[in-house]
Amino acid sequence: MQIRLDGKFALVTGASGGIGQAIARSLAASGAAVAFHYSSHADTAHASVAAVQGEGGRAVAVQADVADPASVQAMFDAAERALGPIDILINCAGIDGKQAPSWEIDLADWKKVIDVNLYGTFYCSQLALKSMVARKKGVILNISSVHEVIAWSGYSAYTASKAAVSMMSKTMAQEAAPFGVRVLSLAPGAIQTDINRAVWSDPEQMKDLLTKIPLGRMGKVEDIADMVTVLVSDVGGYVTGTTLFVDGGMTDYPEFAHGG
Ligand code: BGC
Repeated sequence: MQIRLDGKFALVTGASGGIGQAIARSLAASGAAVAFHYSSHADTAHASVAAVQGEGGRAVAVQADVADPASVQAMFDAAERALGPIDILINCAGIDGKQAPSWEIDLADWKKVIDVNLYGTFYCSQLALKSMVARKKGVILNISSVHEVIAWSGYSAYTASKAAVSMMSKTMAQEAAPFGVRVLSLAPGAIQTDINRAVWSDPEQMKDLLTKIPLGRMGKVEDIADMVTVLVSDVGGYVTGTTLFVDGGMTDYPEFAHGG
């Protein structure tokens, strides 16, 4: 079994850091030409592109506000001009928003999370599907979260957006399957990145977090990136319309290891 993506073009949103950057690098290492999307961190995206090119790969950096359909259209135009028609879309751009109970959260902050995580994923997927359905091939993988099924106090917009992305993926998968196009989600657990730095840099919070993870450690970005690469390759060719949880067992109800 070989995981190779030679001749494929992949666009990865949110590729200037964290999980998205690792996914984009993993796809490139498997032979794909990769467009690294960034919102504001141009320097990191361009550094990744230079690194891929240095290893003999093809890559470009593309900027967009994924919450703006015109900006998404311009990004697709630029990426496809540079690297050809899209074969793989990874929707990884996302924010968790400000932490506050639902009755206190500012409406604009709540809506911003939905705009980026849900509308952004929809805008990118719609453009990719238009091209993939016409060409009768392609795969879209949405980065969801364990919080598509686990409630999380203080993050009602985030949990709502991830649950919505999950069901949107399944519906798109059903629509696109007759055209040979796959759509699926991958739900990471607690992966050590900037988004949860406040938790893992505080020993007390880290101790609490580890009680929620049966495998006893936070995830590494490679745990997600390499699984994504498998799923979008031909090895994952029979997987569509579902969410794969890559979470060290976080969704396995660890509090039920005792009692009941
Ligand atoms: C969040 C992380 C969190 C993890 C597990 C992710 O979706 O972005 O901050 O550590 O879920 O709760």
